[in-house]
Amino acid sequence: VPSVGLVGWRGMVGSVLMQRMQDEGDFASINPVFFSTSNAGGNAPAIAGAGDSGKLEDAFDIDTLAKLPIIVTAQGGDYTKRVHTELRGRGWDGLWLDAASTLRMNDDSIIVLDPINRDVIDKGLANGTRDFIGGNCTVSCMLMGLGGLFKNNLVEWGTAMTYQAASGGGARHMRELLNQFGTLNSEVSSELDNPASAILDIDRKVLAHQRQGIDSSQFGVPLAGSLIPWIDADLGNGQSKEEWKAGVETNKILGTSGEDRIIMDGLCVRIGAMRSHSQALTLKLREDLAVAEIESLLANDNEWAKVVPNTKEASMAFLTPVAASGTLDVPVGRIRKMEMGPEYISAFTVGDQLLWGAAEPLRRMLNIATG
Ligand code: HSE
Repeated sequence: VPSVGLVGWRGMVGSVLMQRMQDEGDFASINPVFFSTSNAGGNAPAIAGAGDSGKLEDAFDIDTLAKLPIIVTAQGGDYTKRVHTELRGRGWDGLWLDAASTLRMNDDSIIVLDPINRDVIDKGLANGTRDFIGGNCTVSCMLMGLGGLFKNNLVEWGTAMTYQAASGGGARHMRELLNQFGTLNSEVSSELDNPASAILDIDRKVLAHQRQGIDSSQFGVPLAGSLIPWIDADLGNGQSKEEWKAGVETNKILGTSGEDRIIMDGLCVRIGAMRSHSQALTLKLREDLAVAEIESLLANDNEWAKVVPNTKEASMAFLTPVAASGTLDVPVGRIRKMEMGPEYISAFTVGDQLLWGAAEPLRRMLNIATG
């Protein structure tokens, strides 16, 4: 049974990962060694059925880390920068599984999303790749929903216009969003209770609070009752880093380059959803395929992609963050031919940003590595 170092298991992504590992019984096939950046010597978490987990090790103790054949981290990019460099610097050749983006685009790393790129992963393992990194949440969720088109080399180019949830910013951002909803409501609660009050007066008060007084320290500007059309760093060329990731990560995951390279670009937008990212896609296909054929390619690609019929009722019921959150299903719908021509289709897909967007690809990679 291999020893596996677990770092960052207490944060939001780490907690989802621990829960999924317990749900799937993954702890039966590893010997977990829990690390902490702040509480070394404290008690490790109790894992059902795994016996005594012992004491927390120091996550900055390179000697202890270097004894392990596998380390899984959801501690964040700063930790990766510091510790991964030191470990590799002293010749550690264990497997590093990481949720942070730091190492993602390195030539000697692989972005893991095994239902989509198991071949790339297996080749990497055979060829001595040691860094296996979780992809950007939006990219992973898109590929899980639309794998049937991307894997069959049917997409010439695409745009994803995103509707990204608060959780992508972190736990504090989710709290801030809910606090914003709450204070907006309390600003006008007496008027709301009175059916005779004027809606434009209510709107004016809400707007005044959004512009002045509402706590937006995490997001920088109000998100509740608004949106933020920029995610991650400004690359200085008009593109946000989140938008750049769509193109580079999609191709890296699929292993496509040269003539096969798929052009992906779009605009990334934060909205007031909790933990599921949505995206509206326009795809230019390489062939004129019937909608029914497209739907069957998508439905048959992997067991999590769930095709939603392109009707109002089904879209409203099954193609929303509320429907997808907390599940591994990746609903994909609104598939139709667009006016631009027979090779142009629309699609809309939703995925839990903490599951397929973060924890699940890492959990599965750990199983591949230890299996
Ligand atoms: N960058 C994503 C977001 C989070 O801000 O929504 C994880 O990839």
